Amino acid sequence: MGAAIRYWPVRVGGHSALLLGPVAVHPTRQGEGLGGLVIRESLGRAARAGHARVMLVGDAPYYGRFGFARLDDVRMPPPTNPDRVLGLALRPGAWDGIGGEVTRAI
Ligand SMILES: CC(C)(COP(=O)(O)OP(=O)(O)OC[C@H]1O[C@@H](n2cnc3c(N)ncnc32)[C@H](O)[C@@H]1OP(=O)(O)O)[C@@H](O)C(=O)NCCC(=O)NCCS
Repeated sequence: MGAAIRYWPVRVGGHSALLLGPVAVHPTRQGEGLGGLVIRESLGRAARAGHARVMLVGDAPYYGRFGFARLDDVRMPPPTNPDRVLGLALRPGAWDGIGGEVTRAI
């Protein structure tokens, strides 16, 4: 296997969300598009499974290409840099008005 990706169920302000991470591509296979492939494929599966929103902690320049943008009101535990807390709405407006601490789902 050249790539691995994982999602975790979390809660944000009383709403369910998926937390993406880690995603990793084998060092000898990086830069071939595998990362983008597994991210796009899994986001499509998440949407078809009925999930409304995804978040992650990562580099905006990389994840922006998939539609992720900074979530201003969502807080991860320190020392997380708030600029790295990014979200993607799988349904239009799914992050609108949602904020607060990220907690485990159960
Ligand atoms: C980040 C990672 C998953 C990307 O997977 P990949 O298969 O190498 O990426 P792709 O081939 O789909 O895309 C490559 C593009 O992403 C860019 N890129 C990779 N990491 C980047 C980053 N941190 N910031 C900005 N751009 C980045 C590359 O420059 C390249 O750009 P280009 O399309 O303009 O040439 C992979 O490099 C990796 O496993 N890195 C180590 C683990 C890691 O950092 N994981 C993320 C945090 S959990």
